[in-house]
Amino acid sequence: MLSKFEYSKNFLKNDDLLICPICKEKLILMDHSLVCKNKHTYDISKKGITTLVSHSHIKESKIYNYELFLNRRNFIQKMYYKDLYDEIIHIINEHFNNKINIVDLGCSEGAHTMNILNLLEQTYMYYGFDYSKVAIDMASCYNSDVRFYFVADVNNVPIKDNSIDLIIDLLSPYNQSEIKRLLKNNGVFIKVAPGKDYLKEMRAAANISTYDKDEEVEQNLNKNFKVVKKKHILNTFPITKDDFKLLLKMSPMYNDKVFKVPKIITIDLMVYIMNGEKL
Ligand SMILES: C[S@@+](CC[C@H](N)C(=O)[O-])C[C@H]1O[C@@H](n2cnc3c(N)ncnc32)[C@H](O)[C@@H]1O
Ligand SMILES: [Zn+2]
Repeated sequence: MLSKFEYSKNFLKNDDLLICPICKEKLILMDHSLVCKNKHTYDISKKGITTLVSHSHIKESKIYNYELFLNRRNFIQKMYYKDLYDEIIHIINEHFNNKINIVDLGCSEGAHTMNILNLLEQTYMYYGFDYSKVAIDMASCYNSDVRFYFVADVNNVPIKDNSIDLIIDLLSPYNQSEIKRLLKNNGVFIKVAPGKDYLKEMRAAANISTYDKDEEVEQNLNKNFKVVKKKHILNTFPITKDDFKLLLKMSPMYNDKVFKVPKIITIDLMVYIMNGEKL
């Protein structure tokens, strides 16, 4: 079996899209680093972790810590989101039949998109970006010849213009002009946002206010993209006490003032599908 570092090198040898986050020149693999022609240098750690940001200091979030990401991974692996994955695979199959370049914005520790990639028939090159070092450290266990997770800012994505077929954003922040810059004309942008009943039982149990930003999300998307399709994923599942604990602790809204553990949980998500046509 290859070491994480060897996997990283294999991916980076195949890559043709990475650019320097400072000067935007192409990045070339040289020994243990990615280097641009202006000699900006980004080292690849033994674990394959590479930080592609334009400034040296990234403020780590205190809320998004290792424990949160671990609980997140454990919950996500229980497949409560299977309908979402099937819908995304359906969209991909509708649009693509050849090899695709995928960018995942705010990929976190990687479990959601790994569940999707496991169902994908198309061959791909996948670039996951998150500015949390802790998350990318965990995600790097999924690094392979065709997948790589980078510490990077979604506001300055280190990928060249008009090169991406599919951009996925699952419940993460995004930057509209960066998405327009990256996406090919015939590319697809999939944005997943919480619906108003998303995890409503958890919100009620922990006394957290309900989510009511779905209209705002849609209005913002419409300003910049052509929303070609919208799909509502709405399901209610029985939930065990242990899974509910994971869910609580994977949430940045977590607090320990839970009065009563619910028996069911609602997954309410809006999936927006947009094409690369520039508005
Ligand atoms: C709610 S989580 C969703 C993560 C993942 N897509 C998922 O569904 O499991 C939001 C993620 O966005 C990341 N994030 C927030 N702002 C970011 C930025 N400016 N650049 C890169 N990642 C960012 C956080 O570190 C976090 O991992
Ligand atoms: Zn440079």
